Amino acid sequence: MNILLTGGAGYIGSQTTFALIEKGHTVTVIDNLITGNFNLVPKKVKFLEADISDETKIKPLLREDKFDLVMHFAGLVRVEESLKNPEKYYLYNFEKAKKFFDICINSGLKKIIFSSTAGIYGENKKMKKINEDDKLLPSNPYAKSKYELEKYLTNITKKKNLSCVILRYFNVAGADKKNRTGLIAQNSNNLIKVICEVAVEKREKITINGNDYNTTDGTPIRDFIHVEDLSDMHLIIAENLKDNNQTCIYNCGYGTGYSVGEVINEMEKILQRNLKKEYGPRRKDDIPYSVADNKKFQKKFNWMPKYNDLSYILKSALEWEKKIK
Ligand SMILES: NC(=O)c1ccc[n+]([C@@H]2O[C@H](COP(=O)([O-])OP(=O)(O)OC[C@H]3O[C@@H](n4cnc5c(N)ncnc54)[C@H](O)[C@@H]3O)[C@@H](O)[C@H]2O)c1
Repeated sequence: MNILLTGGAGYIGSQTTFALIEKGHTVTVIDNLITGNFNLVPKKVKFLEADISDETKIKPLLREDKFDLVMHFAGLVRVEESLKNPEKYYLYNFEKAKKFFDICINSGLKKIIFSSTAGIYGENKKMKKINEDDKLLPSNPYAKSKYELEKYLTNITKKKNLSCVILRYFNVAGADKKNRTGLIAQNSNNLIKVICEVAVEKREKITINGNDYNTTDGTPIRDFIHVEDLSDMHLIIAENLKDNNQTCIYNCGYGTGYSVGEVINEMEKILQRNLKKEYGPRRKDDIPYSVADNKKFQKKFNWMPKYNDLSYILKSALEWEKKIK
């Protein structure tokens, strides 16, 4: 397939680009490098350095080339930053994306895969796995911006008879087994990134935000999905969309929850030493339990993840952190 992919210089987009070209697909990446890095983009692909809303660059690209599908990864991803600057998140994750999709759809593109987030479910009071039909209560500007784009895409898909698959990612973690790409974010709050930075002595200590939640050890519980399994899910959807029209929403997670404390313990076991840590206050709007009910995707595609192993996830992230240290 001939695939247009936004955000391909970032963590998940670059991993998916590698997976797509390995399967023989042709990929064109659009990225403005606001948080991405050109070095993560596989050399085999066509790369356009552009903002997704820059019609002077996007329109000619869509005139020159006929794409079968667009995968939209580009966006801003930091919840804390979104609390400080909600307008920026609305602009990047909704307004610019809407403009981009309008250009794509007007140029005849009919198939879309969109990276959404489990954050749009908001607080899960029942401490149960979340399924795709559960109520959406996005509580921070990042999640709200994703929710707005989901609504827009759902409406336009119906109106114009398009195919659109929305993937709601839980906590994406780990790095490429060949160590070609991984998470490069600076000053990240991503738990596994922080643990790895402390492990390679790039950061002094881990701050555990809240140890008084109603969970096994008082720290929040999350569902960590390895980035290679996530990119595999994109491949499966893309190949399915080739011959089928489908409009659907799928959770992307393993359905297994680990607490922050358990993740740190596991890394300490790998390293055979303790990491420096401290307890801090709860983060605003942080939820105690976020674990996917992932049966919908598994049943539909008879899919089994390959990397559902916390130790492997941590080891692969650590190898990447050592590489970029
Ligand atoms: N990382 C996670 O755990 C996670 C969880 C849920 C959802 N997501 C979603 O997955 C997608 C990818 O996330 P990631 O972790 O790879 O983030 P990332 O920051 O590593 O990658 C995002 C990429 O998009 C590019 N970009 C941003 N705005 C752009 C614009 N206007 N025009 C062109 N390029 C632009 C950036 O330069 C970067 O390369 C995002 O949409 C994010 O919301 C990520």
